[in-house]
Amino acid sequence: MSGADAGRLWGARFSVGPEESAWALGVSTHFDVRLWREDLAGSRAHAGELERIGVLTGADRAAIDAALVRCGELFASGTFPMAATDEDLHGAIERWLVEELGELGGRLRAGRSRNDQIVSDLRLWSLGATDRVIAAIVGLQEALLDQAETHLDWLAPAYTHLQRAQPVVLAQPLLAFVWMLQRDAERLRDARVRIDRSVLGSGAVAGQTLGLDPQRYADALGFTTVTENSIDATASRDFVLELAAALAILATTLSRLGEELVLWSTTEFGFVRLGDGFSTGSSMMPQKRNPDVAELVRGKTGRVVGSLVALLTTVKGLPLAYDRDLQEDKEPLFDAIDTVLLALPALAGAVASCVFDRERLAAAASDDFALATDVAEALVLLGVPFREAHERVGDLVRAAEEQGTGLAGLPASRVAAAHGDLVERWSELLDPAAAVARRDGQGGTAVAAVRVQLSRARAAVATLL
Ligand code: ARG
Repeated sequence: MSGADAGRLWGARFSVGPEESAWALGVSTHFDVRLWREDLAGSRAHAGELERIGVLTGADRAAIDAALVRCGELFASGTFPMAATDEDLHGAIERWLVEELGELGGRLRAGRSRNDQIVSDLRLWSLGATDRVIAAIVGLQEALLDQAETHLDWLAPAYTHLQRAQPVVLAQPLLAFVWMLQRDAERLRDARVRIDRSVLGSGAVAGQTLGLDPQRYADALGFTTVTENSIDATASRDFVLELAAALAILATTLSRLGEELVLWSTTEFGFVRLGDGFSTGSSMMPQKRNPDVAELVRGKTGRVVGSLVALLTTVKGLPLAYDRDLQEDKEPLFDAIDTVLLALPALAGAVASCVFDRERLAAAASDDFALATDVAEALVLLGVPFREAHERVGDLVRAAEEQGTGLAGLPASRVAAAHGDLVERWSELLDPAAAVARRDGQGGTAVAAVRVQLSRARAAVATLL
């Protein structure tokens, strides 16, 4: 390539063009092309500023603006003629403008640099992407809310250490994920506040001398505020890191939900059957019904977390201000966004398709050892110190295990040894439905409490849109 190639923005001071290997390393059009809408919006705002300061006439600006609109139509229809000599999106658009408008196309570069342009583009794109992810989270939350409402009073076991722990209603674990997702969405909304800052006017590193007004760019592009420092504006990518971190946390939530679906749909658990459209067969074993969707969601968490680690590693140790390393910010961010936007609707569909097995869930919730804690708490209400109550109930559990029954099978005399008042309440104490109903405080599993929780969850989700 020659030094003064029309496709590049910087050939003049070199006698020879870049080596092919160097060019291949640096070219970014294959991924930064995704920013065409944002780049064109920035250029249109810039043409407006150049007209305002008198660098462009009204007619110049109108011609540039019309060309930029045509350019957008080419991108939208997939027919923009990207050239092999285009190093990045900004250069490609300028080359095309010069081809269209001649000398006028070359006037648009005044007062800006690709260093502020790329940050402006990425911030704008990230705002839109964040909104799309939040909307997709709400879609999954709604699928969970609907399932919770349908199964508000179905008994289900709750686990700790993946051992049966205490009976709950099925809505409780489903709503647990709604609240986790709520925080994931709120984290994105919080990150959005710091993404929403305009940088144009910062130039390459130290601003510009033309009198361009950063606030007017912000107004034209719809940013809420303007960055305060041209070096910070061009050098910083913490908005990308924060967004990637929020996405990585979201991906871990999705992974955990995926894991529940995998477990619950096993023959061993047998709590749920995923719809045919969200299950896959085996190429060898005709009987198989595999939860691939849930597994893939769990598996894809690795690449989202990987994107965060890649981004942190790229930014770490960079000297101020812009360094070309920062070109590496885009692909991991795009991939993290694409991945969660693939996973969320698939998982929402899988959740909506779930058919739960009431008998299996109730049977698993009815293991009466799961109510040992309730018996101990009943003793506390009878005045026994909890430490002592724990011992007495532990004795009952051991005795029941030795005789090969549940707690319900213990003779009254054995129960009375723990406390005389337990005897007549024994069957009520060991009834899982009664146990669930006793937990009627906020956050508890009594049906009335869960009904309140459900409406609070719906209200919280509504604030996201
Ligand atoms: N393509 C670059 C990026 O994605 C922006 C261009 C800045 N390049 C430069 N040599 N100053 O970060």
